[in-house]
Amino acid sequence: MEFQELILQRQSDRKYSSKPVEKEKILKCIESARLSPSACNAQPWTFVVVDDEGKRLEVENAIATLGMNGFALQAPIVIAIVLEKPNLSSKIGSVIKDKEYTLMDIGIATNQFCLQASEIGLGTCIIGWFNEKKVKKVLNVPKNKRVPVLILLGYSESQQRQKIRKPIQEMCKFNSYKE
Ligand SMILES: Cc1cc2nc3c(=O)[nH]c(=O)nc-3n(C[C@H](O)[C@H](O)[C@H](O)COP(=O)(O)O)c2cc1C
Repeated sequence: MEFQELILQRQSDRKYSSKPVEKEKILKCIESARLSPSACNAQPWTFVVVDDEGKRLEVENAIATLGMNGFALQAPIVIAIVLEKPNLSSKIGSVIKDKEYTLMDIGIATNQFCLQASEIGLGTCIIGWFNEKKVKKVLNVPKNKRVPVLILLGYSESQQRQKIRKPIQEMCKFNSYKE
């Protein structure tokens, strides 16, 4: 598949079949995330795969909150990405340059996971709206760590949608930000 075809194919899937996801496929997605670039190669992440039905439903109930993300309850797998302490050089660089490298790293790994999933016929949805405290409790994540993002994973039953994006002229400049 052409890379740009894959980019167009990956979408946020909000309807899943109950078909279980094969462990090798989950691990393939984790492997692609593992190979992601990160500032100073710090790899500040742990992927917690939630495939136990009881735990998964508890996590999904922490996603489907305040009238949002109700569709999460159908996803057969949830991945929680735990933000780990970066190495010293990434941390120092982050302070000196006042940039959140670790969150950038997590974002890149998340996308690599989702693109890989799409390539092998799986659907995903990145989830940023959830009760983090509850998720951490269910998954035994220490209180002092953050879970910036979750990924729903499963066989999608969503229709393929056209991408809705700002026009390229609005988001791309050559040589000067100001016209
Ligand atoms: C950091 C982040 C958090 C997101 N959180 C949610 C969420 O809580 N619920 C949801 O349905 N979609 C969520 N999304 C998916 C976006 O809504 C989606 O990527 C965007 O609308 C573009 O659509 P597409 O992914 O289908 O191309 C999130 C995406 C990102 C990158």
